[in-house]
Amino acid sequence: MPEVSSVPVLTIDGPSGSGKGTISALVAAKLGWRLLDSGALYRAVGYAAGMAGLDLSDVDAVTRCAEQTKIRFRAAPDSAGTRVWVNGHDATDELRTETAGAAASAIASIPTVRQALVQLQLGFRKLPGLVADGRDMGTVIFPDARFKVFLTASAAERAKRRYKQLKEKGLSVTLGGLQREIEARDSRDASRAVAPLKAAEDALLVDTTGMRIEDVVAKVLAVVQP
Ligand code: DC
Repeated sequence: MPEVSSVPVLTIDGPSGSGKGTISALVAAKLGWRLLDSGALYRAVGYAAGMAGLDLSDVDAVTRCAEQTKIRFRAAPDSAGTRVWVNGHDATDELRTETAGAAASAIASIPTVRQALVQLQLGFRKLPGLVADGRDMGTVIFPDARFKVFLTASAAERAKRRYKQLKEKGLSVTLGGLQREIEARDSRDASRAVAPLKAAEDALLVDTTGMRIEDVVAKVLAVVQP
């Protein structure tokens, strides 16, 4: 078995709608590396807590839920991305909603919930390498990562991207409402005491406002393969 630290990691952190999910999946596919969508873990715990009827501010109950929830990532049958299974149920579609995002953001501010998910995340670090997408990948979970990127985009542009994604899925949303939700979630994620959303000091900052996806992918790939 190789030393864990010899496995290369590329961390891609940033606020919601910065393009992290899309860019991380494309970069991981190009490199042939594994992918960790850490936001899906927080969404899964928020979802499981909701299904169990828990009060999301009940720290002990939500922590137990984080410790006990079974989360599995499985390739979709038609290789159309990854499906997320929560406690034996394919919850992929429910996890993508803004409600699931808000629940994830709420439970993610509980330090013991974050702690409960650490080992699971470290377990994704396997050869030939890992692309880790989240808020604290470069700062807390993989501080020794060889490659670190922090993606940003203006709140207006991020709301527009989310709007397009959700409309394509047939969900009923408004642009103004989305921008307000995104700004509220950003400020909660950035101001929490534990593992707040912030760029690692050694991360390359990329503002994706107005950039094409392929240009962002090229810029991120150049960090790994200069
Ligand atoms: O990336 P996302 O939108 O799926 O993340 C949903 C929420 O989960 C986000 O608002 C904050 C939380 N999160 C976190 O606290 N730490 C991470 N590494 C990833 C997500």
